[in-house]
Amino acid sequence: MHRIAALLLLTILMTANARAGDVEVLHFLTSAGEASAIQVLKQQLEQQGHHWKDASVTGGGGDSAMVALQARIVAGFPPSAAQLKGPLIQQWAREGLLTELDDVAVAGHWDQRLPEVIRELVTYQGHYVAVPINIHRVNGLWANPALFRQYGLAIPTSWDEFFDVARQLQEYGITPLAQGGQAWQDGTLFEVMALGIGGADFYRRALVELDPAALSGPTMIKVFETFKRSRDFIDADVLGRDWNIATSMVVNGQAAMQIMGDWAKGEFTSAGKNPGVDFVCIAAPDTSDGFIYNVDSFAMFQLSGDSARQAQADMAKLMMEPAFQQAFNLAKGSIPARQGMDRKPFDSCAQASMNDFMAAAAMGKLVPSIAHGMAQTPAIRDLIVSSTSRFYHSRTMTASQAVAQMAKGIQALR
Ligand code: BGC
Repeated sequence: MHRIAALLLLTILMTANARAGDVEVLHFLTSAGEASAIQVLKQQLEQQGHHWKDASVTGGGGDSAMVALQARIVAGFPPSAAQLKGPLIQQWAREGLLTELDDVAVAGHWDQRLPEVIRELVTYQGHYVAVPINIHRVNGLWANPALFRQYGLAIPTSWDEFFDVARQLQEYGITPLAQGGQAWQDGTLFEVMALGIGGADFYRRALVELDPAALSGPTMIKVFETFKRSRDFIDADVLGRDWNIATSMVVNGQAAMQIMGDWAKGEFTSAGKNPGVDFVCIAAPDTSDGFIYNVDSFAMFQLSGDSARQAQADMAKLMMEPAFQQAFNLAKGSIPARQGMDRKPFDSCAQASMNDFMAAAAMGKLVPSIAHGMAQTPAIRDLIVSSTSRFYHSRTMTASQAVAQMAKGIQALR
């Protein structure tokens, strides 16, 4: 079918979809911390008289949710709103499927409330097409301080210290690093190491600009080697493990550390743990002046019917209000996307993240997450994540082989 005709048919089918007053929200916020955060949105929306229809798709990082969303769109049955990130927002906007939110944005002064790096993510051809709800810092290290105290060890701030401490913890019979079993978790660890070992300029050149020399040069090989070395310090039951189960290993003292974005904090706090007391949050090794950002947004799909559209506009407005951004981010572990908010309600981890975000932006050390879909097309992001994960678990591949294969794959996709 001709592409325009197909999109027209899609629009007709879509307009028949939503029931008046319903807001069907597709998201992947299903772990304990994530669920308490999404509950904030549901409650605040229902307080405005709208009816929340939950379309959650389990699976950290959102890979399964994005497959489900695509299938629903192709079937002409999109949700009212979906949790989206990075270039995917642009992709659905380019297809003409997203509702423009300019009226709400102008009334709410979004231009003045959002940092430029986020404005770029949620606008398409100058129009707002999504609402950013948070800023996650991906390069986090989460540690169980009781274990470190017990063995007289210091929480590592460099990769050299990390490996030193990890070896000692292992000798004491403690799993040093809690790692999960999906490719995106390996991709997360990999990009954090790329920033730590190579620095922000290398990260940007290699993973954002995809410069062939940086992608396949000696620094990248060193990153791969160090990444692989960390595999000696995870436990044997990693395969299939969800990220939040890995976090719970640190919560319970089964493992000493996890390298993960600050959605991990939601797991600690929903388990009743306090930062600085029961858990420690610091920048991942060698990344204290850098910041890998990952921003969750909700985009609205075009629907017919005044009440369906009103509900979407109300939801968009609500999500940029200080009350929502505060309550949601307190539960989620992230910091508000909206700038100029009162900092007092936020804990030490979040306040450090707020300072580090600003400092990294000022120093040119703010970089987008690759594993969390902030910078590359889905095909290139998937290739980077699957190449790094395959190498992490391979018994035979050398770092040079893996780097060469990834660089070649990226070249083919460009
Ligand atoms: C999302 C977070 C989410 C995490 C784990 C990330 O890609 O941005 O909101 O908590 O994945 O599911």
